[in-house]
Amino acid sequence: MQKIVVLTGAGISAESGIRTFRDSDGLWEEHRIEDVATPQAWHRNPELVLEFYNQRRKQLLSAQPNAAHFALNRLADFFDVHIITQNVDDLHERSGSKNVLHLHGELKKCRSTSDASLIYDVKGWELKMGETCEKGSQLRPHIVWFGEDVPQIIEAARIASTAEIFVVIGTSMKVYPAAGLLDYVPQYSPKYLIDPDAPTISWISNLEIIKEKAGKGLPVLVEKLIKQLH
Ligand code: OAD
Repeated sequence: MQKIVVLTGAGISAESGIRTFRDSDGLWEEHRIEDVATPQAWHRNPELVLEFYNQRRKQLLSAQPNAAHFALNRLADFFDVHIITQNVDDLHERSGSKNVLHLHGELKKCRSTSDASLIYDVKGWELKMGETCEKGSQLRPHIVWFGEDVPQIIEAARIASTAEIFVVIGTSMKVYPAAGLLDYVPQYSPKYLIDPDAPTISWISNLEIIKEKAGKGLPVLVEKLIKQLH
């Protein structure tokens, strides 16, 4: 089976009702990154940080995967599909996709502040101060904050470097190291970028830009790729 690697960002979940970060109504319009998504914010005001992610988690519980998530699931019937997502939601998994690598963590999980290997499911939507790991340390959201290492990037780069086709969906490509993954994709592999407001990436060869919303553009691309097999 041909290997398709897909890099997704907040845009693929926009049609599920989950706000992106940098669009005009995006989350970073309303919240300052320094207040809610850095280790310093956590030390300064952990209640505020927990509340920010509790609200995200609450929203996620009522969201459903959309046509774009399901299209990727269909693609996996015909190709060896690997999804690298910057998203912390679980909509890829809930649409049935396997091989999902979360670069920036997972909203429905939390981890120990003293031992990063102790990872737990959050029960319901709320994580509170005073909730501790088995060693007695406070639990924090299982999210990669700005200024923290991205432990999964090495594996993601390895996967990207083996892509026979690479598809990018709904990311502003402003956050590194995720945005740098395109540089690992073999030059000759066809690349597609689906985003109604696609960022300019002129230095990448074999790149087709599809200026559509994911829910419309991705099902069309998936059918095209499947057709090319016959
Ligand atoms: P951004 O909010 O930066 O970019 C979202 C992209 O999705 C934009 O390019 C939009 O044009 C596009 N978009 C909006 N609606 C769409 C739709 N219906 N279909 C397709 N595309 C659509 O989100 P990311 O690039 O994912 O990290 O942001 C990267 C990281 O920055 C996030 O993972 C998060 C954030 O800060 C952390 O919190 C660590």
